[in-house]
Amino acid sequence: MNELDQLDEMTTCRIDDGRKTVEPCSIVIFGASGDLTARKLIPALYHLFAAKQLPPLFRIIGFARREKNDSQWREELKAALHQFSRTKPVDEAVWEAFAPNLFYCQGDFSEVPAYKKLEQLLVSFGNEQLRHNLLFYLATSPSQFGEVVEQLHLAGLLHLEEKPASWQRLVVEKPFGHDLQSARQLNSELTRYAHERQVFRIDHYLGKETVQNILMFRFSNSIFEELWNRKAIDHVQITVSEKLGVGGRGGYYEEAGAIRDMFQNHLLQVMALVAMEPPVSLDAEPIRDEKVKLLKSIRALTVADVANQVVRGQYFAGMIDSQLRPGYRQETKVKSDSNVETYVAMKLFLDNWRWSGVPFFLRTGKSLPLSASEVRIQFKRTPNVLFAARCGPKLDANALTLRLQPNEGISLRFNGKVPGTSLQVRPVRMNFSYNTEFGAYTPEAYERLLLEAMAGDATLFIRRDEVETAWSIVDSIRKGWEGKALTNREFYSAGTWGPVAADDLLAQTSHVWRDPNPVS
Ligand code: BG6
Repeated sequence: MNELDQLDEMTTCRIDDGRKTVEPCSIVIFGASGDLTARKLIPALYHLFAAKQLPPLFRIIGFARREKNDSQWREELKAALHQFSRTKPVDEAVWEAFAPNLFYCQGDFSEVPAYKKLEQLLVSFGNEQLRHNLLFYLATSPSQFGEVVEQLHLAGLLHLEEKPASWQRLVVEKPFGHDLQSARQLNSELTRYAHERQVFRIDHYLGKETVQNILMFRFSNSIFEELWNRKAIDHVQITVSEKLGVGGRGGYYEEAGAIRDMFQNHLLQVMALVAMEPPVSLDAEPIRDEKVKLLKSIRALTVADVANQVVRGQYFAGMIDSQLRPGYRQETKVKSDSNVETYVAMKLFLDNWRWSGVPFFLRTGKSLPLSASEVRIQFKRTPNVLFAARCGPKLDANALTLRLQPNEGISLRFNGKVPGTSLQVRPVRMNFSYNTEFGAYTPEAYERLLLEAMAGDATLFIRRDEVETAWSIVDSIRKGWEGKALTNREFYSAGTWGPVAADDLLAQTSHVWRDPNPVS
């Protein structure tokens, strides 16, 4: 090996060597007949099992109202796995070894005997850890959280005072409330019989590989972090676009809208990771402390600010991939005069030292031209001399794009000379693609999240104060919308990049949206 090769030698540093091993445990899924179990949870557990990441002893219990026995449930899940597995074909030998760990417990969430039955099942496993280390996954409607937690407590299955030799944890799915008040109510119901440290609130975006990479990217490189502030950055754009419309989820969407479904959780989480201060360590609490601080620094929006800085949108019928897509108001279970937003865009300011005066533009929507999530850090323009003086706005400002999905990666855009005798300048891109560098490997977010919850690491889960802060931001926006119907400038055709009003929002400050370009 020559000297240069040695210098370039790549060493990998494993940070999670000392992490807690996953102890034998039972996972109890409440609401096991639902879509989430079949589509996400069981495929994720199957893949963890195939990768030998589950503990040596484990059991998975589906708790739901419908009558069925273990083998019927296993058959159903097997069929679902064939449909939803991220790897195909399903490995029959792995499934045969995995399936005997699946059990079904029929019962009503409000009935004491059902929990007795659950306890007997746990006891029948004949192992103390399987009986007492319990991960309760509440894939139910939030209105049932309180009941389930109370019943678990009464049945002696959930203990506030954790014994050193065992643990019980609650994993809860979104929607976590529909406003600040209901979120507080849910939080107090959950923490009546469990400590906050036993509660794991899911935001599946935090389980995505590239979302986790934001922290590593920022804090393991010196060149970017030096520039990560108001001195170098003009503005930040965060786009989470989806090609799909609301489809069969019209009923839910009428209650949620884009602001509750996507902004309250996924967009704010991405923003927090992009903009937060360095935590004092990589442990869960310091990281979550910084995220909360960041969310709290978002400048509060008055009703007048909402009118100026927030845009709603709703799609009408249009073409996507040469197919006519219905408008939102024609989707099932949607009111024909609904004003619910399927798109939201806004300009936010952070009142802190680092970001003072830097606008953050966030947007998300359904029935857009493509599904892509990315963060674009747009740097300031050069001084208006030399090339800028000659080219004016045609001289592109530098940009760094973190592509969260698809084609995960990072690209840096800067200007270069077009080869030749004439003097021409144009943007060029330096591109890092995960797939090219590491090979295609896209674990489902739920695989990571389930494993972390079993290991008791809360870093990737949302803390109580985090969820409440996020809701208070959403509440102030919704207050600004109260009683106001959508205007013409807020409708957009399916298959376009959102309403005109969203372009106007950026145009106020001479900015433009940069649409994701995942193939680049
Ligand atoms: C969910 C929303 O939380 O996230 C859905 O409820 C949305 O409406 C989904 O489609 C998007 O997730 P992903 O992983 O496909 O970007």
